[in-house]
Amino acid sequence: MIRLQDIKNNNDIKALIEGANKTLEVLGYTEHGIRHVTRVSNTAAKILRVLGYPSSLVELAAIAGMMHDIGNCINRKNHGIAGANLLFPILLKMKMPMEDIVYIISAIGSHEEQYGSPVNEVSAALIIADKIDAHRTRIRKGIPFDPGNIHNRVNFSIKKNWLEIDKEKMNLRYEMIMDMNVSCPMDFLEIYSTRMRMCEDAASFLNCSFELVINKFVLNKPNYKIQ
Ligand SMILES: [Fe+2]
Ligand SMILES: [Fe+2]
Repeated sequence: MIRLQDIKNNNDIKALIEGANKTLEVLGYTEHGIRHVTRVSNTAAKILRVLGYPSSLVELAAIAGMMHDIGNCINRKNHGIAGANLLFPILLKMKMPMEDIVYIISAIGSHEEQYGSPVNEVSAALIIADKIDAHRTRIRKGIPFDPGNIHNRVNFSIKKNWLEIDKEKMNLRYEMIMDMNVSCPMDFLEIYSTRMRMCEDAASFLNCSFELVINKFVLNKPNYKIQ
């Protein structure tokens, strides 16, 4: 079985992750490097682990998280599909079983909000883990606070965020502490509302509800399953 550590040790994959991050730096995007993909990998795996999915799927979620943004080294547009195509021969060469490859490439190919949606459990966990990574540490080093840039403003304002996974209630609660002197929930929603809706869909795929909580206030109506 291919493990997350095998992926982390692979020099081709390392170069693709770094290349994608450099491309996005030139284009003025927030951090998409090791910090982001490691966080997404950890969160995606944790979601499936806490919800009681088999360890094989937990590992696939960790692997998909680590590689989900490599397509950005080709182009930002359609980077999910590009990344899945790039990975296919690499995973085949690593002798990953084809059924596992299918999980990973469909999850990566479906993680973008412009055309993606949850297509399997790994995909649903990846979507949530990716879309909730809004935080001040995503602002690249040396970039000053810019009140005229909404992405900079929103990320700068988020001092703390976390995901509470409640298996009893089947609820995923994404909570953040936002500095209201820097930005506000309206700003957050202006750039994140589609992504938060995608999280609701992904949570629902896992038979969970998804709550968005900013400064202790619940902003959405949790999508509780009707029994
Ligand atoms: Fe992405
Ligand atoms: Fe991402």
